[in-house]
Amino acid sequence: MKEFEKSKVIEELGEITSNMYRLGWNERNGGNISWLLDEEMYSDYIDPKNVKRTIPVEFDAGELKGKVFLITGTGKYFKDIEKHPAENVGVVRIADNGKELEVLWGFEGNTRPTSELPTHLMNHIARLKVDPEHRVVMHCHPVNVIAMTFVHEQDDKAFTLSLWGTCTECVLVFPDGVGVVPWMPAGTNAIAEATAEKLHDCHIVIWGQH
Ligand code: 13P
Ligand code: ZN
Repeated sequence: MKEFEKSKVIEELGEITSNMYRLGWNERNGGNISWLLDEEMYSDYIDPKNVKRTIPVEFDAGELKGKVFLITGTGKYFKDIEKHPAENVGVVRIADNGKELEVLWGFEGNTRPTSELPTHLMNHIARLKVDPEHRVVMHCHPVNVIAMTFVHEQDDKAFTLSLWGTCTECVLVFPDGVGVVPWMPAGTNAIAEATAEKLHDCHIVIWGQH
């Protein structure tokens, strides 16, 4: 087996997360990423029979059973991923019972997956239903958009029209618009369900005051 640290997947993740940190979209431990991996992306590096530990999932993720994800760790900083991937991210498989993550690589030093795990998994379920090519859920804290949620009506259509109006490229990048989930406690199944609901019609959801 080759070292997963040296894989294309880890190289790309490190590059992306370092950029996001540098651009100020992911201050401190803000934000998280999960990436649904195709088998050929990890099969030279990871033995799928070698489960290092299991981590409970607090809802039924059975629709994703057998799928393998790269997920960022909770409390971890995006700037550290490039140099120290194994302590900051992990590769997990959704167990057949849908109630556990099977850790196949990383999450060293007892690192746990992001506190937004319900949002990531429920959002993968929602997006895969409308787009079989879907692979990544990315959560970040872009300051201008957060500021906008303090002063703008939190309505999908109104928010979309204002964003489209800010620059010409917006309508090209997200022609399906954005969904808005008004403030609710983060890291919960409730915010995950509300977000997944919006993702049937669009691929970007804004969380109010978050
Ligand atoms: P984690 O450090 O648990 O990923 O949480 C960061 C965050 O952005 C919560 O919404
Ligand atoms: Zn957040």
